[in-house]
Amino acid sequence: MSNIVILGAQWGDEGKGKLVDLLADRFDLIVRYQGGHNAGHTILIGDRKFVLRLVPSGILHPGKTAVIGNGLVIDPLALWEETEQLRAAGIDVDNQLKISNRAHVILTTHRLVEKISETLPGRVAIGTTLRGIGPTYEDKAGRRGIRMADLLDRDYFPGAVRQLIEDHVTRARAFGVEDNINADEIVAKYSEAAEKLRPLVCDTAVLLKNAMDSGKNLLFEGAQGTMLDLDNGTYPFVTSSSACAGGASTGTGVPPTKLDAIIGISKAYITRVGGGPFPTEALDDQGDLIRNRGHEFGSVTGRPRRCGWFDVPLLKYSAMLNGFETMVVTKLDVLDELAEIPVCVGYRVRGTVSTEMPATVRELAWAEPVYEVLPGWQSKTEGISDWDSLPAAAKAYVQFLEKCTGVEAGCVSTGPERTQTVVRSGSRFAAITGA
Ligand code: GDP
Ligand code: IMO
Ligand code: MG
Repeated sequence: MSNIVILGAQWGDEGKGKLVDLLADRFDLIVRYQGGHNAGHTILIGDRKFVLRLVPSGILHPGKTAVIGNGLVIDPLALWEETEQLRAAGIDVDNQLKISNRAHVILTTHRLVEKISETLPGRVAIGTTLRGIGPTYEDKAGRRGIRMADLLDRDYFPGAVRQLIEDHVTRARAFGVEDNINADEIVAKYSEAAEKLRPLVCDTAVLLKNAMDSGKNLLFEGAQGTMLDLDNGTYPFVTSSSACAGGASTGTGVPPTKLDAIIGISKAYITRVGGGPFPTEALDDQGDLIRNRGHEFGSVTGRPRRCGWFDVPLLKYSAMLNGFETMVVTKLDVLDELAEIPVCVGYRVRGTVSTEMPATVRELAWAEPVYEVLPGWQSKTEGISDWDSLPAAAKAYVQFLEKCTGVEAGCVSTGPERTQTVVRSGSRFAAITGA
């Protein structure tokens, strides 16, 4: 076995949590490498539903170690709350969870700063989750951030935090944003959370190295998706971290040479939450049908997700950036009722059709999708777990996506449960995962 990265190939919410949960038993450690509690990874086990935000989905498997890597931004209050919910559900968090001492800390005032950029007239609103993610990464890049190791340093933390809070409040006031920030209260609350989290914090890069040296396997759990990646996504309508495969290395301290395979997770259609261009968005009743059948409402903010058709140029771009040769096509069952299913096979930009992804959102907004319309199957695929039992038109749909993207669909998901999964025998996916 080897070290594998599971990541979102589109704009997030592809079903990464389900796949990580499905594969976690075959690995020893499950590692998050970027993002924060903007993520919402849903796992359904029988009648129990878990929505994990910061904690890797592998924690639900007894005995597995779940690691929050250095590339994340952590709101200690939110993390404590999440761990408490898991403890209440009988999960052995205290023995299973490890948190990087190099991960950055989200302060209450990071949310205040975010409110400015998201709500002031004249600013481009990204439609963020308002969790303070972007401003915390800004402070990280600005080299004034506070890390978990700083949070645990009782002598250093109060002074450093006050300085950063002062910085945030000054900015807020300059924009006329009212604040009720009490620095003493923040220091006290965060110091309390620090003591609770202290036993879980360590140098996770060393932990991962030692684990690999003793022959253990790592499963990396991406958050968000390729098109939300800070460098390669639909900038500026992106998140502020490296959701692409490279992030698995920088966000954990595991060298790129140790990453053996990448698996892209892609819905059989596409969704997006928040602002930004979305060439294949279905603004008609078909979009509503997908939203309702797929329960496409944000697991973090509850916002309705924008829904649209599978986008070949986007997927090809994603495969190129991440280097995945196999993908999991999720939520095929959501399309069960449709008589016809359009697939975007190219973009027409200024009269020329291409499958390349434009670099700017202006160009992307102009890109006119060129569709090929495939027949639907109008029968139930929900819960089907072997390829041969899928309706012929459903198989043809998946094979069409493979042909156009050049990426194998080694696994197809037909429902939220672990058992509702087709692993194609002889596929690269099966070989990589042993599933
Ligand atoms: P993530 O952020 O990538 O982990 O995905 P989310 O959990 O935010 O959203 C995916 C949603 O789809 C969750 O509610 C899952 O339970 C659900 N889901 C995952 N795979 C399937 C599938 O194949 N079919 C259906 N109907 N639901 C699925
Ligand atoms: P998972 O891991 C879908 C989106 C937000 C917004 C943009 C920036 O569950 O797939 P941020 O708060 O990160 O600064 O917001 O990114 N976004 C997500 N969309 N799934 C997610 O996570 C997301 N995390 C952030 O809606 O458009
Ligand atoms: Mg999600």
